Amino acid sequence: TTVEWEAESYDMGGHDTYMHKEISEQADAVDRVLRGRIDDRFSTVHLGGLNLDAREARGVRRIKILGCGTSYHAGQIGAQLIEELARIPADAEPASEFRYRNPVVDPDTLYVAVSQSGETYDVLAAVQELKRKGARVLGVVNVVGSAIAREADGGTYVHAGPEVCVVSTKCFTNTVVAFALLALHLGRIRDLSVADGKRIIDGLRRLPEQISEILGREDEIKRLAAEYADAKSMMFIGRVRGYPVAREASLKLKEVSYIHAEAYPASELKHGPLALIEPAMPTVAIVPDDDLLEKNRAAMEEIKARSGRILAVAHQVQEKADHTIVVPKNENELDPILMGIPLQLFAYHTALAMGRDIDKPRNLAKSVTVE
Ligand code: G6P
Repeated sequence: TTVEWEAESYDMGGHDTYMHKEISEQADAVDRVLRGRIDDRFSTVHLGGLNLDAREARGVRRIKILGCGTSYHAGQIGAQLIEELARIPADAEPASEFRYRNPVVDPDTLYVAVSQSGETYDVLAAVQELKRKGARVLGVVNVVGSAIAREADGGTYVHAGPEVCVVSTKCFTNTVVAFALLALHLGRIRDLSVADGKRIIDGLRRLPEQISEILGREDEIKRLAAEYADAKSMMFIGRVRGYPVAREASLKLKEVSYIHAEAYPASELKHGPLALIEPAMPTVAIVPDDDLLEKNRAAMEEIKARSGRILAVAHQVQEKADHTIVVPKNENELDPILMGIPLQLFAYHTALAMGRDIDKPRNLAKSVTVE
């Protein structure tokens, strides 16, 4: 398939920054990554360029996902989706760490390189090293025909359209959706039932409208950003599905506002970072309505007991939190796709109020093509 990028030109289209434009385009972008790929008859999806037939897909024993920055975080959610839907052990690792530790390259492992630009040197070098050792590598890439896309044995494009702002927003979301498609595809070749396949497909189809609903709350999110703009530092917490969402939201805030932020699994708070909690260090808690809801509520209670302020991103108003951004519920597995979106707007409005150079944060580049 070819991507039609003309529809979304490089023109700002009335937005004051590319970041705002790109955040606003996410419903259409997700619609585009889904288009033409869903097969309702078999409750699966077709990904044309994988170059991995059903027999080969069944032979995959592990999946290792490699990327940098935001793409690495998308890969972390991707690994969870693959484990949940396809029951193949999967994990994500920064591409640079991977290539410097002389990794054991296993023939039954499928390697997946994730990159918006398709040009990030650390990812490309990891792919080349893997290929030299005879591994099979797929690419999950945005820019068509880029170096990583060409070097990989196959893969899928994420169809986010051009992303100009240095920090990635719509490409992150589309990359996670592309991983959901890959996970569904692999799952339906293995043990995912027709009913579960249909449940995920229905969930995927609800995403664009739910994204629009979240984007419609921008004024509310802007007010919340003003409320927390005095923070010296912010803590982001989540558990399992919520943890990579917390990591990505923390990165986004750091990159555009220069406010220090860190992300922790909620369960790790008590093993150290609880010492930091005080009114000047508010916490953003990712609180999906799933089997870990009570655990997440308990973590918020611990923070409140130390007079920490809490902004929750949740499916229902959280009593323990000072503020809640309520997001629409999807299938549990797909919740991470939606829960990060309000926090993109949160980072954006925080940076805007601080007068930051949003599209070109200091010291950062859109793609790092050198070592
Ligand atoms: C740079 C950018 C990040 C990006 C990372 C990976 O550091 O500033 O926003 O996530 O590279 O880029 P890629 O193009 O490989 O996704």
